[in-house]
Amino acid sequence: MAEALLNVRVERKNFAAVTVLRNIHLQLQEREVVSLLGPSGCGKSTLLRIAAGLEREFSGAVNRGGQGGEVAFVFQEPRLMPWLSVAENIGFSAGPQYDKKWVQQLISEVGLDGFAEALPKQLSGGMAQRVALARGLYSRPRVLLLDEPFSAVDAFTRMKLQDLLLQLAERHGIALLLVTHDVDEALYLSDRVLVMGSSQPSSIRLELGVPVTRPRDRRDPRLATLKVEALTELQLAHVI
Ligand SMILES: Nc1ncnc2c1ncn2[C@@H]1O[C@H](COP(=O)(O)OP(=O)(O)OP(=O)(O)O)[C@@H](O)[C@H]1O
Ligand SMILES: [Mg+2]
Repeated sequence: MAEALLNVRVERKNFAAVTVLRNIHLQLQEREVVSLLGPSGCGKSTLLRIAAGLEREFSGAVNRGGQGGEVAFVFQEPRLMPWLSVAENIGFSAGPQYDKKWVQQLISEVGLDGFAEALPKQLSGGMAQRVALARGLYSRPRVLLLDEPFSAVDAFTRMKLQDLLLQLAERHGIALLLVTHDVDEALYLSDRVLVMGSSQPSSIRLELGVPVTRPRDRRDPRLATLKVEALTELQLAHVI
């Protein structure tokens, strides 16, 4: 197998005396989409923060293969600066001298033409999350890490955002590592779904491959079969 784009090995992650993660090995290949499912509090966000390099106190290692490349993060809430326009928020990491042409292209790609000068308070929740996606793409990352990115929007908007995310990842050749509580979302988006347990310390209990070509049909019976497997494991994860 080719050298992984992202290789995360967590032998142990403690918060004070409590070990929350133990013996986790997670790899992300180029252009791969991987989701993390698991009960609340099992350490999904912690694992994602470790993968992002935001959390450095743990035993283990994070390696980026190939030429490395940027890793960007999209949070559950859009976290936009309320006093900056859509365009300024997207180019925020580069400061006032941001690349205006690239920002305009990203605005277009996320379906927000005409909103470059709008302020965050003028946007719906779904539109704000589109801005957050564009901001994540600004640095031209090879890997996008997303922590429950669509959990605050309605079901219909969520499906549209899922398709947008896949489209963007494909167009720009970006691998995705996504935390979600939504089994359907995980199976619809991913090449692999990793299910974590709730026992502390937590680790990856099950890996499900999703051998269904894209574009996928949300009603595909193969996804339904995999959903049963994922739900069974999640139920076990909750009681153990
Ligand atoms: N900064 C922190 N200090 C102390 N404990 C923490 C800290 N961050 C997380 N924890 C603990 O680590 C465990 C894992 O938290 P984490 O936020 O990673 O879980 P999660 O799986 O993302 O949960 P959720 O699905 O609710 O978002 C929890 O028990 C949490 O209380
Ligand atoms: Mg979390």
